[in-house]
Amino acid sequence: MGWQLDYVSIRVSTLRGDQKIEFNAYVKINDKMILYLRRGDSFEGDRLKRLKEKKLRKMYILTDEEVSYRDYLQKNIETAYDNNSNKDMQTRAEVIQGAQQSNAEEVFENPENAEVYNYAKDAAGKYVSFIMSNAQAMQTVMKIENTDKNISHHGVTVATLSIALAAKLGLNDIKKSQLLTLGALLHDYGHHNSTLNLSQPLKSMSPADLATWKRHPKEGAERVQDKKHFDQAVLNIIAQHEETIDGQGPLGVKEKDQDPLAVIVSTANAVDRLITFEGVAQAEVAKKLMIDSVGEHPLQHLQFIGEIMKGN
Ligand SMILES: [Fe+2]
Ligand SMILES: [Fe+2]
Repeated sequence: MGWQLDYVSIRVSTLRGDQKIEFNAYVKINDKMILYLRRGDSFEGDRLKRLKEKKLRKMYILTDEEVSYRDYLQKNIETAYDNNSNKDMQTRAEVIQGAQQSNAEEVFENPENAEVYNYAKDAAGKYVSFIMSNAQAMQTVMKIENTDKNISHHGVTVATLSIALAAKLGLNDIKKSQLLTLGALLHDYGHHNSTLNLSQPLKSMSPADLATWKRHPKEGAERVQDKKHFDQAVLNIIAQHEETIDGQGPLGVKEKDQDPLAVIVSTANAVDRLITFEGVAQAEVAKKLMIDSVGEHPLQHLQFIGEIMKGN
């Protein structure tokens, strides 16, 4: 054992936007720290895309530079949420999408931590305002491709679609919108740390894979239901997000017995399952659901999804 520097891990999803970093970011390869991005660089555009393609979730910084990292994070997020800042929508959307993704990952890894949960909950409220008060926000977030088929990124996309769908349905209650968003963000907790290949249509899964898949909503909810800081609505969404209105979902719960927020997330989830995991083009997804999944989701939801995907 020789002399060693101290490193602390940081989330790649927090390194978004055009703000220059004031710390060096390292990747760990074969137990060695390799300098990947240096002080003065930023994580916008192509560089972000290449980084995501590497499916790298964590990077490292020197413990000495943790304060710089925290400052960077806070400044980045504050500017991105500020409707009066001069940042372009693309940059704002990248930072905010990354921050939401990071919040989901934090809760997935620290479900027992009330502070982490409440931070994500507060940020979910901010996300609703961001999407609702900026005309281009939804479309811009939806264009950030989930290249590594990340379950937290999927959570952000489902949250975004849920907000848009809830608005069409006339759900204006701030508290409910916040819980809807948080539940959507965390809905696939049951897939966290799972080895199941999600990029296969349910219809072509092996019986063993399908059985595993069917358990994920219940297992996700069971892992967190004893944590007092989890809201009941969020638990309901985790447990019921794969239910369909015809009662043919994994739990076989009929629509009248489902949490109305879970019904919304179920539709939004079906949309992004097709886009992210089954490679269906965004422009085709509403039509495909109308043909393949009519009867599983409220018809009005599917009609609204058609409008949302067209940007109306
Ligand atoms: Fe799911
Ligand atoms: Fe999902």
